[in-house]
Formats: sequence, structure tokens, C-alpha cells
Amino acid sequence: MSDTKYAHLIDLNDYPVEWWNKVITLGASIYAHPQRYVQACAGKIMATLFYEPSTRTQMSFQSAMIRLGGSIIGFDNPMSSSVSKGENLKDTTKVVSSYSDILIIRHPMAGSAKAAALTADCCVVNAGDGGHLHPTQTLTDMLTLHMEKGRLDNLTVGLCGDLLYGRTVHSLCKALSRYPNNRFVLISSPELRLPEYIRKLLKDSGCEYREEPSLDRAIGDLDVLYMTRIQRERFQSEAEYLAQKDIYRLTPEKMLRAKPDLAVLHPLPRVDEIAVPVDADPRALYFKQAHYGMYVRMALILRLLEATEQVPIVHGTENGTMCCVNPKCICAQEKYLPQRFFAQGDHTVCDFCEERALERAMP
Ligand code: NCD
Repeated sequence: MSDTKYAHLIDLNDYPVEWWNKVITLGASIYAHPQRYVQACAGKIMATLFYEPSTRTQMSFQSAMIRLGGSIIGFDNPMSSSVSKGENLKDTTKVVSSYSDILIIRHPMAGSAKAAALTADCCVVNAGDGGHLHPTQTLTDMLTLHMEKGRLDNLTVGLCGDLLYGRTVHSLCKALSRYPNNRFVLISSPELRLPEYIRKLLKDSGCEYREEPSLDRAIGDLDVLYMTRIQRERFQSEAEYLAQKDIYRLTPEKMLRAKPDLAVLHPLPRVDEIAVPVDADPRALYFKQAHYGMYVRMALILRLLEATEQVPIVHGTENGTMCCVNPKCICAQEKYLPQRFFAQGDHTVCDFCEERALERAMP
């Protein structure tokens, strides 16, 4: 089953790779000639619904829309909106989408953007749904690689830090696995290893990957090092976070062992995982990366608002015998949502959060 009314961006994999490439190329041309696009969205309104903190994603979207001649509305603290009175996601989305042409949503629950798209009367963009996905960060990462490395294929990519809860890592793996000859080095502690469903996806797409707990051992092999913050807010307890927090730290000494053309990326915010002196190394591209994010979001807004093609979001099918057991899935919070599932290999996963679902216990 698929939705056909508006063009949404929930998961990059809902679109073919050619579509991503077009957004990236458009982002590069806006970067080169921003003055050509100053009126491109005149009269359009973008709403940003941020249920979770954000600096770059929210402000780069807002700046992108303003630079395209459009206007912005929204909230960055749900407690200053009717969410504080107990309004559900469905009602907020329904109403705000009737005021706007494009709705950018960030929310702490996995699958929330997909849920919002079910009722929205405009395009919906996933700006981060819990520990699940962050497709517009991935477009940012891909524009950075396109501009700085000149390619999105034939790369050895090290992903370091919180691979379990880091949604930017999940989206990036899903995307780069679709380009030829990319190899992945997954640098994490055993507790924060990449979720099973993404490892399976890498395997199924024929990508070479290895899990390597040591950044020191891995760094010399890499073309790209993607550092990530340990996602404190997603741990069950503070003690579990504290046990993980200082395991990885990129320092100038470690950079001595890296290739001369290594690209160090980070979605930001940085906490302690990259020592500040690394910023002076020309291979540290994370601030440039944040800057590219604005241009790729300009491209995305244009592309979605101009879209005449069908919206490709694919939904699973309703199945009363299965249930999602992920407490961080949007369906655990918004009980009116349909319980939909799809098959993945030999198991069944929730349509919203992609985590493995279980058979419902029979009464
Ligand atoms: C990331 C996010 O929110 O997932 N930040 C971002 O959007 N640039 C990474 C993070 O919070 O660690």
C-alpha cells in the first residue's frame, strides 16, 4: 500500500538512487549560484515541528526556506504548543499541515514522521525520528562527500561511536550501501553496535563490512571517518551512558595515522569525541558539512514542492496476530495508529520503527 497525495521524505530508501543524486546535484548548483533561487519558494510556508532539541537541522531548514523566498512557522519546544495540553501527533499534524506547504518534523519516537505523513495535508519531511532515521542529515553527508571527495562510491567508511542509537549512522549506512564498492568499518563497543536490521541490510546489499572495536587500528584504512556523539538521551539509565561516554576520542595523534585525504565528518553536536585541536586539521570537514546541509535542504524543499511524481512511501500490511514490542516506537505512544508490519527475511518487522515484531500472545 502506498500514499499518493503529497511527496514526503520519510526514508531515503523510499526513493530511487537517481532521485537522491538529483537532489545532491541541485544542492551543489544552489551552492554555486544561490542568487538564482532567491524567489523560488515565494508565497510558500514551511512549518517546523521540533519535539526534540536541534540547532543545525532546524535552523538550516529555516534558513533554507528563507533563502528561497518562503516563510516559516513552527515550534521548537512542544511544551509551548498544545502538545502540553495532551494533543496527539495526528491532530497537531492535521492542523499545522493545513497552514503550510511543507512540514519538517523531529520527534523522539521511531516512526513518528511516517505516522505524521498518514494524516498530513502537505509534504512531510523526517528531520529525525528517535534513534531510527535522519534522511536529511544523510543528504547533507552525501553532498559533503560529493563536493569534497568527488564521489559516493569506492569509499572505505568508518563509523565510530554510538552506532546503536545514532540515527544519522543508520540512514547513512542505508544510503551508501546502494553505491558500488563502498566498504564499512563499524567502530563501536559491543553494547553500541549497529542494530541487527542495518547489519542485515549491509549484508543483503553485498557490502563488505567488519566490526572493529579499535579506532586506532581502523583509522589508517579509511577514506571517510564518521564520528558520532554517544546519544545520552536514548539510554535506559545514566549509568549505562557513563560506561560508554569516553570510549572514543579522535585526537591529533590519532590523525597522524590517517590517510592524507581522509574526510572526517560528524553530524554535530560534538561533545568530547573529537578533541578541539583536530578542528585545525584540513581533513576535519564537519563545519563545512553543516554548511552544505543548508544547500541540500534548499534543494530538497524545491524538489518536494515541485514534485508531480507519486509519493513512494511504502506501508506494510495490517496484521492482528503480530505486535510491535519496541517501547520507543511511535505506535506505543499513539494508540490509534494502524498496526502494520512487513516481512524482512525470515522475520516480521514493524512498519514504523523497523524493529522485529512478535506474535501476539493468544488469550
Ligand atoms: C544529529 C541528530 O539529531 O541525530 N544531529 C543533527 O541533526 N545534526 C546527531 C546527534 O544529535 O548526535
